[in-house]
Amino acid sequence: MRRVLETAKNGWRRKGVEMRIIKARDYNDMSRKAANIISAQIIMKPDCVLGLATGSTPIGTYKQLVEWYEKGDLDFSEVTSVNLDEYKGLNRDNDQSYYYFMNDNLFSHVNICKERTHLPNGMEPDSEKACADYNAVIASVGGIDLQLLGLGHNGHIGFNEPADSFELETHCVDLTESTIEANKRFFASYDDVPKQAYTMGIKTIMQAKKVLVVVSGKDKAHIVKEAFFGPVTPRVPASILQLHSDAIVIADEDALSEI
Ligand code: GLP
Repeated sequence: MRRVLETAKNGWRRKGVEMRIIKARDYNDMSRKAANIISAQIIMKPDCVLGLATGSTPIGTYKQLVEWYEKGDLDFSEVTSVNLDEYKGLNRDNDQSYYYFMNDNLFSHVNICKERTHLPNGMEPDSEKACADYNAVIASVGGIDLQLLGLGHNGHIGFNEPADSFELETHCVDLTESTIEANKRFFASYDDVPKQAYTMGIKTIMQAKKVLVVVSGKDKAHIVKEAFFGPVTPRVPASILQLHSDAIVIADEDALSEI
């Protein structure tokens, strides 16, 4: 079925589903817009559950949130967070672990209660146990109010890699070559990049009340087109978000340059 696009001043809205695609001028504009939506969530529901993401794209969003916190405009004291994913086998002190990333970019700079921040335990060698434990954590927080997502070059969200079917809950993934390649810039060498990760599943992401995707750069233009304007398929995991009832994509002009 061909989807009808309705042009709006600031982007597009698909008829019939709620996915909104908001055009940002550039990375900074994208970051501010995303931070505005997260702020609104915290203001409207101070004890909300935020699903948080790593990767380079949300760094500007976190910076903006920290700035607003420092100005006294935001209060994280009642917020709970659950992160999407963690590398398997990386110690929390490793500066490439997502635990380290979240502390470095957000948690250490705001008044969030550390006991209410959650990530999969990358140091649990028993994958089944690590995933079951994280599913229990997600269940215990009572559902995600707003899930922030980046977009991998192959359409992955969290570490849900292209596959034959959508994985539902937390699982251990073998990272694809393209993901290992993309992430090796953060490590000393290819061999140092972990080859597996624990990630929240697609069902959990889809159950979030609101989903917010941030995308920036020409190198993402192709996948933006495939994921949000192509068919829904587990080969492009982010495409499932087209079926979410409240999904917002904030993409800069470069990322939208193929639309
Ligand atoms: C990693 C993360 C994803 C992230 C993706 C894109 O693989 N697990 O959550 O969205 O990278 O990263 P970047 O924003 O750096 O392009």
